[in-house]
Amino acid sequence: MARTIIVSNRLPVRITKTGNKLDYKPSEGGLATGLGSIYKKGDNVWLGWPGLYVNKKEEKEEITRELRKENMVPVFLSKQLIKDFYEGFSNETIWPTYHYFSQYAIYDHKKFEAYIKANHEFCNELLRIANPTDTIWIHDYQLLVLPKMVREKLPDVSIGFFQHIPFPSYEVFRMLPWRKEILYGMLGSDLIGFHTYDDMRHFLSSIGRLIGVNNSRGRIERDKRVIEVDSFPMGIDYEKYSNSAASPQTIEKEIRYRTSLGDQKLILSIDRLDYSKGIPQRLQAFEMFLQEYPEYQSKVSLIMIVVPSRDNVDQYAELKEEIDLLVGRINGNYGRLNWTPVHYFYRSFPLEALSAFYRMAHVALVTPMRDGMNLVCKEYIASRLDQKGVLILSEMAGASKELSDAILINPNNISRIVRAIHQALTMPEEEQEKRISVMQETIKRYNIHHWVNIFMERLNLIIEERKSLATRTLDEKAVQSLVDAYKSAKSRLLFLDYDGTLTGFKPNPQSAKPDNELLKIIESLTKIKKNRVIIISGRDKNTLDSWVGHLPIDIIAEHGVWLREKENHWHTIEALDSNWKEELRSLLEVYVDRTPGSFIEEKDYSLVWHYRKVEQGLGELRTRELSSHLKYLSTNKNLQVLEGDMVVEIKSSAVNKGRAATKWLQDYPHEFTLAIGDDWTDEDTFRVMPENAFTIKVGGTTSVAKYNVLGVKDVRALLKKLI
Ligand code: UDP
Ligand code: G6P
Repeated sequence: MARTIIVSNRLPVRITKTGNKLDYKPSEGGLATGLGSIYKKGDNVWLGWPGLYVNKKEEKEEITRELRKENMVPVFLSKQLIKDFYEGFSNETIWPTYHYFSQYAIYDHKKFEAYIKANHEFCNELLRIANPTDTIWIHDYQLLVLPKMVREKLPDVSIGFFQHIPFPSYEVFRMLPWRKEILYGMLGSDLIGFHTYDDMRHFLSSIGRLIGVNNSRGRIERDKRVIEVDSFPMGIDYEKYSNSAASPQTIEKEIRYRTSLGDQKLILSIDRLDYSKGIPQRLQAFEMFLQEYPEYQSKVSLIMIVVPSRDNVDQYAELKEEIDLLVGRINGNYGRLNWTPVHYFYRSFPLEALSAFYRMAHVALVTPMRDGMNLVCKEYIASRLDQKGVLILSEMAGASKELSDAILINPNNISRIVRAIHQALTMPEEEQEKRISVMQETIKRYNIHHWVNIFMERLNLIIEERKSLATRTLDEKAVQSLVDAYKSAKSRLLFLDYDGTLTGFKPNPQSAKPDNELLKIIESLTKIKKNRVIIISGRDKNTLDSWVGHLPIDIIAEHGVWLREKENHWHTIEALDSNWKEELRSLLEVYVDRTPGSFIEEKDYSLVWHYRKVEQGLGELRTRELSSHLKYLSTNKNLQVLEGDMVVEIKSSAVNKGRAATKWLQDYPHEFTLAIGDDWTDEDTFRVMPENAFTIKVGGTTSVAKYNVLGVKDVRALLKKLI
């Protein structure tokens, strides 16, 4: 039966050991808490590290047994791997880089090797339990190279990947020495998800610039596969938090806490110990608030929960000391016998306690320097059953993209945080209610179940598309029926597109000259009497003439403007006008002046602006501008603007490859027809072909053609079979 296997570094339980006793507790952190309530459905399984080092066989067996009851499978890591893979590469290289703390990043090749090794271990454990029909959902930055490893072993399995932390801008990402390995690793997935559009944009720009993988609106075509990249902002289990806020245990805790705290306004902050969370800056802001608004002394306290995390990593240990000092200083300077400014807890709390804090807090102060999403702020909103309370939220948290009704602040601007605290404490109740209710609507709708559903639905769609594409692959059986039809036909028309079909793309269009192998294939095909070979291309007639004109073939050039039958003269399909060229050429010149690397190609009845060599991003930007400019200028001129592969072409709208091919279908007998092409101008050819024609699209994407082949090599192999 098909199942979903969730794979993440950390399991949703954290096992600790005191003496000989193993203790199982829920894990903290957005990933585990977010998915924790949904993975137990059906036969689903969660594979991950149980959070401690185990060396005894019996202990491993006991843990495995216990976890199995909860649908979990452990991956045990050696002490060295925990150090080099988890604390090392994951948390000393990737985490700081991805959170824009590159100054903390350590570049150590040994640790990268450990990262690869650990990902291999996850892969091996996964292969032990996975079937090709399962859906594998891999999570987060500790397992970036796992999708590729799994793909190599299970080529057709469905793989989703979700990154829970930010994807940094290309300018930051490119500093990583192992950037390409990471990107190729991720591209083993079918669907890659991020929390925000910015993360997705940064990822797409990095794969484009660093490994030349282009996308069209997040869709990547690679080998036989389509990979999609999109943003899926993760939600929380809304019901769980709102129910917990109403539970008797929570209310009982709240009463207890309130009695000991007295009648004060409370500001709440909850984070794992992490420099990305901006904890020292928050303490400074609170201190400044007490200075600037002394009337609030004794009236407001900050409850600060810091959950221990990664304390073997130097930066974390240092941060802990810094926080201890700051809290000590503030409490020492401002504290009174009956008032503690900062109630600081360095530990984790169970859900009812967190819910009680969420209920009690007048203000939630969530000010990370960077955060992939941040679930704490969403949990606070879901727990505000009376719809009172104020959320102060950093604009550097992914959640700020959804929660625009919070007071949004830049966490580097401490005086702005101070003003925000004052604004929050003085906000009228009606305004609080208005803001909280809007945010509750959002969080309720885009909850964790919604997140899982839309991610999985999207992944399934991609897999369905792949399956339907696979049924169109020109496999051996299809080749055989093509060859049989070819052999038994007395007359044959073979329409062959040139670039991307008979030859691969070259940076300079003029260097895509036919090689000897290709010339031999075409020549041999033309020697067979029953064949009529038609090269059908967007190229200009002179180039085609000089490259293949000496052969006894037919040529359709400039997308169907110029036609040549065997050795006869070139002629146009109808009288065409080229007077428009002058005006539009001067416009294209302006774009060449503004865009280094671009150039104009002039054909008899069309003009082409090439931007293959232009700085990435700039070319696309100019294209959009140029296209709309051209569309405006070309109205009433009977012209068509085509956006192709790194080109913008303007040609008469009266001609296209399909129209030209029709002429051959009318004039020549054809018991067998073959049409092969790779881009959307070839779709016009496919569309006019007779019912029994063999139409073949080069590249793994949808097309009106009946069959797909992967690339130029396959086309040549097929043509050789016909000789
Ligand atoms: N959390 C917890 N126990 C605690 C404090 C926090 O389980 O004592 C949870 C909190 O409820 C939230 C998660 O830890 O669900 C933190 O997730 P967030 O996305 O805010 O930050 P991350 O830790 O992922 O960086
Ligand atoms: C963040 C990361 C998770 C990680 C969690 C806790 O939420 O995105 O991948 O599991 O922090 O960190 P830890 O190092 O304890 O697993």
